[in-house]
Amino acid sequence: MARVQVLPEVLVHKIAAGEIVERPASVVKELLENSLDAQSTKIVIEADNAGTSRIMIRDDGTGMSPADARTAFKHHATSKIATFEDLLRISTLGFRGEALPSIASVSRMRLRTVERIEGGGQEPHPGTEIVFEGGNLRSVGEIAWPAGTEVTVEDLFFNVPARRKFLKSIPTELTHLTRQIMSYALVSPNIEFQFTHQKRTVLEATRASDLGERVYQLFGQDFVANLVELDFSNDAVRIRGFTSLPHEQRSSAGSQFLYVNGRSVSDRLLTRAIRDSYQDLIPASVYPIVILFVELDPAEIDVNVHPRKTEIRFRNTSPIYTGIRQAIERALVQGKASFSALSRPIPSSQLQPAFGTERSWETPTGPDHPLPDRYQLGGFRLNNPYQPSLPSGFQAIPLSSGLAGFNPEPDPHGDDAIPETAHLARSPVVLGQFVESFIVVTERDSVLLVDQHVAHERILYDRALKGMESGENLPLQRLLVPVTLQLDPRQAAVFEHLSDELNRNGFEVDWFGNQTIVVKGVPAIAGHCDAQRLLEEILSSFDTREFRGDQAAEGLQRLREKLAISIACRAAIKINTPLSREKMQWILDTLMLCQDPYTCPHGRPILLRMSIEDVLRGFKRI
Ligand SMILES: Nc1ncnc2c1ncn2[C@@H]1O[C@H](COP(=O)(O)OP(=O)(O)OP(=O)(O)O)[C@@H](O)[C@H]1O
Ligand SMILES: [Mg+2]
Repeated sequence: MARVQVLPEVLVHKIAAGEIVERPASVVKELLENSLDAQSTKIVIEADNAGTSRIMIRDDGTGMSPADARTAFKHHATSKIATFEDLLRISTLGFRGEALPSIASVSRMRLRTVERIEGGGQEPHPGTEIVFEGGNLRSVGEIAWPAGTEVTVEDLFFNVPARRKFLKSIPTELTHLTRQIMSYALVSPNIEFQFTHQKRTVLEATRASDLGERVYQLFGQDFVANLVELDFSNDAVRIRGFTSLPHEQRSSAGSQFLYVNGRSVSDRLLTRAIRDSYQDLIPASVYPIVILFVELDPAEIDVNVHPRKTEIRFRNTSPIYTGIRQAIERALVQGKASFSALSRPIPSSQLQPAFGTERSWETPTGPDHPLPDRYQLGGFRLNNPYQPSLPSGFQAIPLSSGLAGFNPEPDPHGDDAIPETAHLARSPVVLGQFVESFIVVTERDSVLLVDQHVAHERILYDRALKGMESGENLPLQRLLVPVTLQLDPRQAAVFEHLSDELNRNGFEVDWFGNQTIVVKGVPAIAGHCDAQRLLEEILSSFDTREFRGDQAAEGLQRLREKLAISIACRAAIKINTPLSREKMQWILDTLMLCQDPYTCPHGRPILLRMSIEDVLRGFKRI
């Protein structure tokens, strides 16, 4: 018997479906693309259980005649291209004629449609209803249907259990789903979108006049205030969109929406150009928010390179790369003026609660203590004190050296108590403050520079995490005036799953109508922070793919670590803030009691050290 055989058609189709339909978000992507290609003006999406049990998309587009509706379920059946030349100049999102049959082969699917007859005069077609189950046609019938097309997909992967197992938790799938819908809502501002999940509105956007208005609708005013507009052209390409000011950072690339000729793509060239544009402005571990539209002659790209159409190939990469860099860099320079407010230190009154009552804290800021101009770390460098190359002679302290004489064991007597004898004899001595941002310290045979922000961040992180892990809820500080917060759809999806843990850990937060939450209390250690921003940061930091709620213990630990990171980062004293000697000593002493006093929770070094050998070598004495 021959060993090489042609596979049965059913199996071939399942393999094809496997490439196209990975998860509910891929179903939504394909169906949305069809609705957009059909010139719809309004698209309604409903989902249950993150789309795993039901997805429904209804549009008011061109619809299909009864004959076309049947043909549409055949493999390689499309109205969008007819010749090879068409493939080289594609202006529609679809072109393979594969989406409907692929989805139909791994779900229970129902399509209802009626063709829009332009100009009148003709007898209208009746509506058509077609039902498929696991790729098998179950029924075709005539129905009364008002306009457009409605597709319902139920029980995705019911007949491919192996595939179903690969689905992630409901929150993760919902995040993917929401992001997919947002992604197409951004690229089509003139189309009305409604997305409800389990009857709750997740996204609602009426027709907008332009991208700016759509961004505002989806993300809210605070978000828009930190974006600058991109609009740049060279001979080959036009770049439009928005990019964030350097202080607005995210922990994942999930806040980057990239498009080429209206197609949502993930493309290394684009992400590299973005990363390189920000390389001196933000640490390598964080991401700016970017909504980027690249527009160029369709003949210059090949869209037929990826089964899910999410990747493309550029014929000539360099004008795209330089175009994006120029677009972003110019926009940021223009946006810099409005950014200067950031270099102001926070008022002393706001510092108090972060440190509890152990020490008295009075920060000499205000008119009597103006910050010397030349020391201002203003503008873009504010959030990036650590350039990749350290000043010569200084090194980031490796974990095994540096303050080796100190016992980093946790204090057995309690949280923050500083043991009387632990370090008196060998305590590092504070010499002063450098550019109101770094504490200068001598310790045995070394000079140390301590980043005051990250040092304090480490201290607060350890406290917050310890509090959460001990099961004794973090102490709460009630806000005088509760604040409400408008969430974007992704944040709302995250909040849905985080709210219990937040409420267990020093927050008092709850839903307050559609996509709005009310914050009544925050953890006491973050009591002086802007509650809105703190919550926003936390919710945004969870739209990373790393968080996997489906692995309970690990997920919970990760969740707590992230919460602690956000709280610590917001609550920690900023750079560009003058500190009294007492405060600096307190930071130093408390830091030494942390388990890892050398790196902050983000992995940045806390201390730089110059040893006596470095000094002697520098002065040519050895
Ligand atoms: N919502 C819709 N409104 C009108 N026509 C539709 C709709 N959805 C599908 N069609 C028609 O059905 C055809 C098949 O759709 P399908 O998504 O399978 O393929 P495609 O969009 O042509 O290519 P691709 O596989 O790349 O998406 C389309 O070419 C289009 O003519
Ligand atoms: Mg399609």
